[in-house]
Amino acid sequence: MMLLETRNLGRSFGGLLALEELNLKIPECGLHGLIGPNGAGKTTVFNLLSGFLQPTGGEILFNGASITGLPPEQITLLGIARTFQNIRLFEELTVLDNVLVGCQGRSRAAWWQAALRCPGYLREEREFVARSQALLVEVGLAAVAHEKAGQLPYGHQRRLEITRALATEPRLLLLDEPAAGLNPQETLELLDFLKAIHQEHRLTILLIEHNLRLVMNLCQHLTVLNHGLTIASGPPNEVRRHPEVIRAYLGK
Ligand SMILES: Nc1ncnc2c1ncn2[C@@H]1O[C@H](COP(=O)(O)OP(=O)(O)O)[C@@H](O)[C@H]1O
Ligand SMILES: [Mg+2]
Repeated sequence: MMLLETRNLGRSFGGLLALEELNLKIPECGLHGLIGPNGAGKTTVFNLLSGFLQPTGGEILFNGASITGLPPEQITLLGIARTFQNIRLFEELTVLDNVLVGCQGRSRAAWWQAALRCPGYLREEREFVARSQALLVEVGLAAVAHEKAGQLPYGHQRRLEITRALATEPRLLLLDEPAAGLNPQETLELLDFLKAIHQEHRLTILLIEHNLRLVMNLCQHLTVLNHGLTIASGPPNEVRRHPEVIRAYLGK
C-alpha cells in the first residue's frame, strides 16, 4: 500500500489554477522529488498535504485513509511533518527549545495539567527534553543546544528546522527547498544528512528542490510540475530526458 496518495488533487485561487489533477503515489520509505519552475504549484502541494490550505478538488489519502480537509494539528499527529521554503524557527528561543516545540505536539497533558505543573506533565516534559537532546546529538547540533536559533549559521538553521520536524515523529517528511541558500559544501552535507535520517527514522520523504544534483542523487521518483500541471513523472533518469521537462525546466 502507498503511504501517500493524491487523487486528482487541485487548488485554484480566484481564477488561477495553481494545481490541477495531481496524482501522486508514494510508497512507505520512498524518496520522491517534486520539481518545476517558480510558480509551478509545488509549495501549494505542501500546503494542501499539511492542511494549511483546503483543496478545491480531489482527495488526499495517507496510509489508506482520507485526510482531505483535516486541520494541520491533526495531520501532524497522523505523521506528516514539513519544513518551509523560508526557514521558520523561533529565533529568540534556544536550539533545544525549538526541538521541544516539535515534541510537545504529541503531549498527552491537558493545558491545566501544564499550568498546575502536575506530576504527569512534569514527567512527560522530562521525557521530551531527553528526546530532544538525543535528537540534537544524532543530528550533530548538541554543542549549540543552548544557543539562540537565530544565531546559528544558515546551514545549521535548515538542519534545526528539519530536526524540529523529526521531533513530531513523522512517517512522511515534506521538505520545501532545503538546499536554498546553502553553499556547495553545505549542500553535500545536507544530502548525507537526509540519507541518514531517511534510514534511521524509516522516513518517507517528499522533496521540493531546485538543486538537481541533490534531487538526482537522493530521489527514486520525480514528479515535474509546470503551471500547476504534471508534465512528467518517473525515475530521475527518464524524467531528465523528457522533452517537455527539458523545455519547461532543465533547458532554461
Ligand atoms: N495563498 C495564495 N493565494 C493566491 N495565490 C497563491 C497562493 N499561494 C500560491 N499562489 C499562486 O499559485 C501559484 C503557485 O504557487 P506556488 O505553489 O508557491 O509555486 P512554487 O512553489 O512551485 O514556486 C503561483 O502563481 C502563486 O502566485
Ligand atoms: Mg515554492
